[in-house]
Amino acid sequence: MNYTNVRGINASRIMMGCMRIADKPLQQTEDLIVEAVRAGVNAFDLADIYGKGDCEKVFGVAFKDLGLKREEYIVQTKCGIRYADFGKYYDFSAEHILSSAENSLKRMNTEYIDVLLLHRPDALIEPEEVAAAFAKLRAAGKVRAFGVSNSSAVQIQMLEKYGVDVAVNQMQFSLGHTLLVDGGVNVNTRKDEAVIRAGDALEYCRLRNITMQAWSPLQYGFFEGVFIGNEKFPELNAELDRLAEKYNCTPTAIAFAWILRHPAKMQVITGTTSPERMREICASAEVELTREEWYSLYTATGKTVS
Ligand SMILES: NC(=O)c1ccc[n+]([C@@H]2O[C@H](COP(=O)([O-])OP(=O)(O)OC[C@H]3O[C@@H](n4cnc5c(N)ncnc54)[C@H](OP(=O)(O)O)[C@@H]3O)[C@@H](O)[C@H]2O)c1
Repeated sequence: MNYTNVRGINASRIMMGCMRIADKPLQQTEDLIVEAVRAGVNAFDLADIYGKGDCEKVFGVAFKDLGLKREEYIVQTKCGIRYADFGKYYDFSAEHILSSAENSLKRMNTEYIDVLLLHRPDALIEPEEVAAAFAKLRAAGKVRAFGVSNSSAVQIQMLEKYGVDVAVNQMQFSLGHTLLVDGGVNVNTRKDEAVIRAGDALEYCRLRNITMQAWSPLQYGFFEGVFIGNEKFPELNAELDRLAEKYNCTPTAIAFAWILRHPAKMQVITGTTSPERMREICASAEVELTREEWYSLYTATGKTVS
């Protein structure tokens, strides 16, 4: 396993995502954590809304049952998305940030959160209010570091203007969702991919030493399904299979290795709930794709390089 430095915190490049654990048997989640930890994973990603709070609860129970030492692990969670009768809305008010963090601490049965992220940009953000809430949480020893998710360069800059040290930006990125790099590769061309949809997030985060985290590494669209072995993506799967054979691993591991190969040194968040798959995914940390292979996979997604 490789590690990266997130504002002084030594975090594994592969993180275990806990969005899908709420309805799984506790034993399966415990086996999953054991497998992840055995492979060197020390970082876990959660959110207050996953399973409407149940994912944090299950994680807290499993972590305690397994007798893991809290100080050896990184527990990251998120706040800022709320539910109402009409659907979801976003809330970055200090009141909501503080109460969400308190509730997460209680649900996970822990005294502190290592990294707290703002889940999706709130149109009504008051950055100075966010900064004040974060300062309060840090001063109370309840949160060690802060970050954002799904945020553009300018949205991060707004927080930085008020003194927030943004340590992380978590964005969707995979061979099924390449927007983070498409705009840069195609800048000043007439191709659709030239449209900047990811808000220059990748370039800005690299400039500011903000750790990028890639969510849904195997999904295409917005949770439409997994592209591995999917007949909708024949060229991509042929290339994944070819490289899997070359590196003596699985196509899934190659899909992870493609993200890990990016020099931004992103963390990749796996959402598997299968201990067996966790093992195969962690094997991806051993694979170092060449530049040419990285581009051959990118091209196999249907993207063109001018
Ligand atoms: N910040 C955000 O807005 C945001 C949004 C979404 C997710 N996230 C984070 O990202 C994490 C990962 O998201 P995700 O769960 O969508 O990621 P993913 O790893 O792309 O997808 C995992 C899902 O794909 C299934 N799957 C099918 N075939 C698979 C294969 N060959 N290998 C591995 N999995 C396969 C898994 O089933 P099995 O369980 O049976 O393996 C699981 O249901 C979440 O847990 C969450 O922490 C963040």
